[in-house]
Amino acid sequence: MTAVDDPVLVVDFGAQYARLIARRVREAHVYSEIVPPTLTAAELLARRPRGIILSGGPKSVYETPAPTLDPAVYDAGVPILGICYGAQLLTQQLGGTVARTGRGEYGRTPLSQGGPSPLFVDWPSEAEVWMSHGDAITEAPPGFVATAASPDAPVAALHDAERRIFGVQFHPEVVHTERGADLLERFLYDACGIPPNWTHVSIIEQQVAAVRQQVGSERVLCALSGGVDSAVAAALIHKAVGDQLTCVFVDTGLMRAGEADQVEETFRRQFQVDLVHVKAADRFFGALAGVEDPERKRKIIGELFIRIFEEVARDLGAGGATGGRGAGTAGGKGPRFLVQGTLYPDVIESGHGEGGGATANIKSHHNVGGLPDDLDFELVEPLRLLFKDEVRAVGEELGLPHDIVWRQPFPGPGLAVRIIGEVTPERAEILRAADAVVVEEIRKAGLYRQLWQSFAVLPAVRTVGVMGDGRTYAYPVVIRAVTSDDAMTADWARLPYDLVERMASRIINEVDGVNRVALDVTSKPPGTIEWE
Ligand code: XMP
Repeated sequence: MTAVDDPVLVVDFGAQYARLIARRVREAHVYSEIVPPTLTAAELLARRPRGIILSGGPKSVYETPAPTLDPAVYDAGVPILGICYGAQLLTQQLGGTVARTGRGEYGRTPLSQGGPSPLFVDWPSEAEVWMSHGDAITEAPPGFVATAASPDAPVAALHDAERRIFGVQFHPEVVHTERGADLLERFLYDACGIPPNWTHVSIIEQQVAAVRQQVGSERVLCALSGGVDSAVAAALIHKAVGDQLTCVFVDTGLMRAGEADQVEETFRRQFQVDLVHVKAADRFFGALAGVEDPERKRKIIGELFIRIFEEVARDLGAGGATGGRGAGTAGGKGPRFLVQGTLYPDVIESGHGEGGGATANIKSHHNVGGLPDDLDFELVEPLRLLFKDEVRAVGEELGLPHDIVWRQPFPGPGLAVRIIGEVTPERAEILRAADAVVVEEIRKAGLYRQLWQSFAVLPAVRTVGVMGDGRTYAYPVVIRAVTSDDAMTADWARLPYDLVERMASRIINEVDGVNRVALDVTSKPPGTIEWE
């Protein structure tokens, strides 16, 4: 039985909490999945969990309606760990007391041990933990013992050893909790008895087996964007089905410097993948001529991308056509499967993995949504179970270059939304060259991985300058660098001034057509990360 068949289920009482717990469990090399609290006990148990973790959440057990859990879960014999809200919920449901003491705890809090617990092996008598609660457990349910307390949480840890049900008021998943990872490991390895065998190697083995089973001897098509997800997905599929895979890379003329070459080098030369490289810059610039509105740019690029992808797919014999390039290979048929780089967070957001597979959401255009019905591909989603950090680790394990695996996010419409105003080949060239300087200097300064994104923007206005004896009238370039965890919010990066100066002077000296450099010091909100 594989680890994927026997997950630890994290019941989601608050998305951010559940996600972090699920990641921590996986960092302990145990496979975890997030499920909504609305599942019945029978539905939960049908997934054959080897352990269940009830997450924290923003609600109080006194609110109506407060999210709850089918109490039959407690009788199933599956080890359970409740964290924060989860601990309060199980306390309340099993007959203990949760009180509105009016004295909550937020942030770093000292925790005193009050008795032995299988989860607190070799803990110091006092440890620092991260708390975030308003209500407090004041009395453990019958059959439970309380094993730790903090100043305002008289029962900060409790368990029933016989039923293997545990609760902690603090957040072991947060780095500020000393020994938090250790506590989770004790629950997983000792209380649940799960071996730590969810590793990057095992992820690859499982996905390779799953892809082979799904695809059989059929052909598979994958659109490469130059980004991490499509590259790792393609490398995985290639490992699974070799030359049944054809990759399509549409060069829009709006990619970053060196991106197209790197896709060629990595996939055609290193992996020897069958790669169709469509050089379509002229078509994209033609379609964008005279267009200034950001949303129209996005729409035009998205639609043209799909049209080009469709042409390639038909040429390869997809949709039952014969006589195309694909007609002579792999059983004489065109590709029936389409690779999609869906990640686990997308799955969670679109309803906790229910009804996945072919009905899954198709993301924005660079993932080729919106294909006509007669090209009825089945989707292959080899990254569907993975968080981004796992995707990167898998990519490294598969031998993809660091530059691809650690590449910062890049919008599907590419440089078009970083040229403010009409997109022309000349402007794209200028921006690409300026952007290459920004990225190179950021890398040299060792900041590339710390920053969420760092890039150049070209507002298509001209400003006056003076160079040598002459007056110049040329474009400004804006340096945009942000830190962020998820792109929902972002902070402008406090880059060292000498680095900013180096970037500015190199851009002005090396990039024709630029005579001024500015630094964007706007966070999100109120700004967005991109300028359009
Ligand atoms: P904003 O600019 O909204 O961007 O703060 C948030 C994140 O999304 C990326 N982004 C896009 N990605 N197509 C994409 O695939 C788009 O049209 C697009 N617009 C913004 C942006 O780079 C950032 O990571």
